[in-house]
Parts: sequence; C-alpha cells; structure tokens
Amino acid sequence: MTDKTSNQMWGGRFAAGPDAIMEAINASISFDKRMAAQDIAGSRAHAAMLAATGIVSDSDAAAMREGLLTVLSEIEAGKFQFSTALEDIHMNVEARLKDLIGAPAGRLHTGRSRNDQVATDFRLWVRDQLDAVDQALQALMRALLAQAEAGADWVMPGFTHLQTAQPVTWGHHMMAYVEMFGRDLSRVRDARARMNECPLGAAALAGTSFPIDRDMTAKALGFDRPCANSLDAVSDRDFALEFLGAASICAMHLSRFAEELVIWSSAQFRFVALSDRFSTGSSIMPQKKNPDAAELIRAKVGRIFGANVALMMVMKGLPLAYSKDMQEDKEQVFDAADNLMLALAAMEGMVRDMAARTDNLEAAAGSGFSTATDLADWLVRVLDMPFREAHHVTGALVAKAEAKGCDLPDLSLSEMQEVHGEITAAVYDVLGVHNSVASRVSYGGTAPAQVRAQVARWKERLG
Ligand code: ARG
Repeated sequence: MTDKTSNQMWGGRFAAGPDAIMEAINASISFDKRMAAQDIAGSRAHAAMLAATGIVSDSDAAAMREGLLTVLSEIEAGKFQFSTALEDIHMNVEARLKDLIGAPAGRLHTGRSRNDQVATDFRLWVRDQLDAVDQALQALMRALLAQAEAGADWVMPGFTHLQTAQPVTWGHHMMAYVEMFGRDLSRVRDARARMNECPLGAAALAGTSFPIDRDMTAKALGFDRPCANSLDAVSDRDFALEFLGAASICAMHLSRFAEELVIWSSAQFRFVALSDRFSTGSSIMPQKKNPDAAELIRAKVGRIFGANVALMMVMKGLPLAYSKDMQEDKEQVFDAADNLMLALAAMEGMVRDMAARTDNLEAAAGSGFSTATDLADWLVRVLDMPFREAHHVTGALVAKAEAKGCDLPDLSLSEMQEVHGEITAAVYDVLGVHNSVASRVSYGGTAPAQVRAQVARWKERLG
C-alpha cells in the first residue's frame, strides 16, 4: 500500500511523503502558475488528439476538455487553491481536474510526460512574450519616429568620446535608435520563427508507443510543426536563451538611450525637458526633478543580462535529456520579460512626452568648433587643397579661435587670411550649423532630407 502522504500523482513506488525541505526545493508552483493558461491549452489540445486517434473515448475527452475550461476559469477568477505538495502547475491542474470530472482525468496523461508538457507550456509562454515585445518595440519606434519627424531639421551637437564632433539633426539622432530597435524587432521575429516547433508528444524523452498525432497537437497550438527529435524536444531551452539574448541586446539599447536622457536632462546640458509624468522630485531638495525612469531603465539591463548568464550556466553542463535543473529556467525568463516590458513602456512614455530645448541644442551645436570639418572640406573643394593640408590649416584656425576665446565663425576674414591667404568670405556659408547639416546628404547622413526619407521608409515598414 502507498503511504497516504506520498504524492498522489507519482507516489506509487514511494512509502513516505517528502521532507519539508525537499518539498520546498522541489516545488515550482509559486512561479510556474504563470503558465496556467498555456498548460490548459496544451492539455486541451492533447485531449482532443487522444480522442481523434481513438486512444481515449470521445466522451472522456469531452469531459477533460470541459473540465479544463472550468479549472482555467477558477484560476482566472483567483479561486483556485494552489498546492505546494502538488509541486507544479501541471500536477495542480490535473489534480483539480480529477476533483471535477473523476476517473477520465486519469487518462489525460496518456502518451505524454511532464517533460514534454513543461517544454510545450514554456514555449507557448515565451512565444506570447515575443509577440508582446514585438508590439512594445513597434510602439517605441513610432514614438521615436514622431520625434524624428518633428525635429528633422533641429540641429544639435553630434558627439564622439562625448566631445562635440560635428553638428547633427535631432531627427537623425532619434532615427539611430529606430535602426537599433528595428534590429531588436527582427531578432524577436527570428527567434519566434525558429522556436515555433511543438515538443508535445516527445513524452518523457523517447516518444511514445501510443498512436498519437503530433501534427494535430502542433497545429492546434499554433506551432508550425512538431519538434523532430524527442530528446531535443524535452531538453532544449535555447528558445528561452534566444529570448534572453534578444532581450539583453534590446535592454542594452534602451540603457544607452536612457543614459543619454540622463545626461541631456541635466542642468549642465539642458538639451531636453522630461515630463513630470516620468520624473520624480527630491524629498530634501525642492528644485530637483530627477530622471528616475531613465535611470531605472539603465539599471534593468543588469538583471536582464544576469538572467541570460544564469540560464546559460544552468544549461551548459546538462546531459540529455531532461534534468530538474531546467526548472530554474522560468523565474529568470519571467523576471527578464517583466522588466523588459516595463522598460520598453517607460521609454515609450518618456520619448512621447519629452520636449527638445531647441535653442540650447542649436547653441551647443555650434560650439566646440563643430564645423571644423566643414571648413576643411571647403578648403579641399574650393581651393583644391589636399585634405591633409586642409586639416592642418583648419587646425591652425581652430587654435587661433581658441586663443581668442571665440568660435570659428567669429574669426574675421583677415584673421583667417593670416592663416591662409586664399580664403574668401564664401567660407562663412559652411561655418553655420544649418548649412553644415544640410550639406551631409550622403545616404544615411544627417541632412534633414535624408532624415525625412528614413522616417518615410520606416513608417512604411511598420505599416
Ligand atoms: N516543474 C517541472 C519543470 O519545470 C516540470 C517537469 C518535471 N519533470 C520531471 N521529470 N520531474 O521543469
């Protein structure tokens, strides 16, 4: 006889129930209950397939499918009693189904195992997340496109080494992030296409002797096809790692932009005003308005990278096929997904609300000798000077302006001619920041016309 306290699902060979510590380390229900909807969808598809193949009767399958809907509604209504003794979502659902429909519930697990079940549930969950991230990325890109369109010809300094380099347009800077998030979007879509194979029916590891129809369950769950190797199907978690990898890269992009917003909103830069909706005050310094949302976005990348590294470490030494180590996959992915979604939404809100301080941007764009390259190019183009020599002459002009404590356009023509006698007044045209950006019409350059073309291209792509 089985001891009453042993597990009702697998207690047949056990004489006693688990130690409390064993139960605590073993149970996953506290977190895998988030996959309840996926678990029930998988079980309903499995039950329908068992009936279609004659493995169980139509009436048993109908009772299972109906009962599973009741379980789902109980969970959704918050009425379901989750039990740690029942370990995980799979056994919690099945035990409740038995309460509701009795004996037929015992046939649901025919031709499957928790190993293919959890792999299926988790794929469905990750797939839903990829779709949610897809939507959130598109929303963020639309917010950036609106900023780019509004400010296609606002000038601002472009930086290298965080030192003023050349003037660029606000729109161009916004569109740089559209390119990054566009690649993130394509990574999400690649991952989704690659992961969309169904593990269900791989059973514990070797497949099953029952005449199951894996194409039927795969199709019912929206997968493109069943996984072709049962060992791989139950032991692969690279779909979750791809999600975390794509999430990490996306979070890194978010973090770089967040860092720029922190810098730009500072009293030293004053490039942007962030909205009150996405800022906080200080409890002691009344004048403060802090860019907390940006800072938190910048920090989120740490835990998302961390989740990626943690799951890589969990998986790296596991022999085929399933090992319980894999139960540690979910919390990492759940946490990364929640935080990525939060970061994307917060960034979208900040971008929609932020106001560029165009006067400050323009003043900063012209400082720091930012049109020195335009001057060198003018010497090449108009005076036919070799670029190296033009670089040298421009350097001398910059040194002169620096000594005088002014910017390049503030040097008089005679001061310029002291450095090189052939310079004419026409040079002043290229020293203005608007002329500078307007001249950079090479494909992908910062000219407003280029920016508008890129905005139009992305609008069409996003539809
Ligand atoms: N809770 C388990 C997990 O998340 C389900 C699979 C259990 N399989 C097993 N053979 N013990 O991985």
